[in-house]
Amino acid sequence: MSKREKFSGRIGFILACIGSAIGLGNVWMFSWRLGQYGGSAFLIPYFLFLAILVPIGLMGEFAIGRKMKGGSFKAYNVILEKLPSGLRNTISAIPTLGVVGIFLFYAIVTGWIIRYFFAYVTGKMNEVANISDYFEGFIGTSDSIIWHGIALLIVVLIVSLGVSKGIEKINKIMMPLLFIILIGIMIRSLSLEGAMEGVKYLLIPKWDMLLKPMTWIMALGQAFFTVSLNGCAMVVYGSYLEEEVDVVNATKQIIIFDTIAALLSAFVIIPAAFAFGLDPQAGPTLLFITVPSIFSSMPGGTIFGILFFAGIIFAAVSSAINMLEVPVEVLKNNFNISRKKAAIGVTIIVFILGIPLDLNMNLFGMVADISSVYIAPLGAVIGAICIYWIYGTKNILPEINKGAAKKQGKIFELAAKYFFVPFSIIILILGILLGGIG
Ligand code: PFF
Ligand code: NA
Repeated sequence: MSKREKFSGRIGFILACIGSAIGLGNVWMFSWRLGQYGGSAFLIPYFLFLAILVPIGLMGEFAIGRKMKGGSFKAYNVILEKLPSGLRNTISAIPTLGVVGIFLFYAIVTGWIIRYFFAYVTGKMNEVANISDYFEGFIGTSDSIIWHGIALLIVVLIVSLGVSKGIEKINKIMMPLLFIILIGIMIRSLSLEGAMEGVKYLLIPKWDMLLKPMTWIMALGQAFFTVSLNGCAMVVYGSYLEEEVDVVNATKQIIIFDTIAALLSAFVIIPAAFAFGLDPQAGPTLLFITVPSIFSSMPGGTIFGILFFAGIIFAAVSSAINMLEVPVEVLKNNFNISRKKAAIGVTIIVFILGIPLDLNMNLFGMVADISSVYIAPLGAVIGAICIYWIYGTKNILPEINKGAAKKQGKIFELAAKYFFVPFSIIILILGILLGGIG
């Protein structure tokens, strides 16, 4: 067997993880959730979860990947060795299936974004009289398929190049550019007349939303989704990690950068929506109708359109790379299929399975909900149970602390075992009972 691939070092690893974390969850879903669940009141449970639960989850996933020298499928198979093989394989495969499910719809949305980018670059967007008709006109139609294919082509090319030459390299370029773009556009957005109303909207909480359990459930779902915490995506990146890299510190940095990106995006989108009298709660269409409408009535809008959608392409592609790497690693390391063959094979399957979603927005919504609200959180819970309950805090702690400047101790063990795991299970069950996405 060939040697396991590795990130070239700490920076490459962190940037790849930041690339995975920052994605449509930040630039698309975050603003809309914020609007829907009480503005800054939503930030309270969201930040609580990001500060307390998410770090425990991420550290465990990085550490188990590095310890087992494998992705989640291998790691959980080892941890669950006492179970009969059929059951063991099924449980170990669930997190991977959850991520592949997310990949199905994520690749489609990435395609829409690439389409918008080109519409700005070629000047076609200037000719669009009604952006809402433009968007409604191609989603759910065969027009969406070609862009979906282009998105997947970009992702498969990068993943085929490997961990350090593909994934790491592209993230080192895309992530700094993304931040520069977001900061630039935010300054423009905040300087629009009437933008301060939007800032107020973001900062003044609607407290009563905190009384609704759904606010808390969605905050947890969003917190897990935004850092790619689902039992496998971060396990696979951890498995390419050098022994001496500090995962405690890396975890902190990933969460901080992901949060900055989410806030920057919200401060780009919401104030601009207010400045132009558009609905900040528009939800899924915020990015595809509201934002382009803003650009089309703003001086220099084409340039901002090009930059904004370029930035979102970076965000989305760097996340999609991680989604493809998850099943590719499984095939490569458990079934001895070459990286290129695995990457191309999975991409073709994901493309074909996605076509019905291109054509039917109800189906699209269903797959998006089922994979992101149920299966991915279930994957995170499976990971949490395997890592902290079955493998055990005693065994995983030394791996988390390896190379860490700030070592975790007894409190971490107790928090992982008696708080993080049970809490994740309860929220998963409540989410299912209360009926998913709002
Ligand atoms: N964290 C990404 C986002 O916020 O858009 C989404 C994501 C990436 C989910 C990677 C799952 C994954 F494996
Ligand atoms: Na994110």
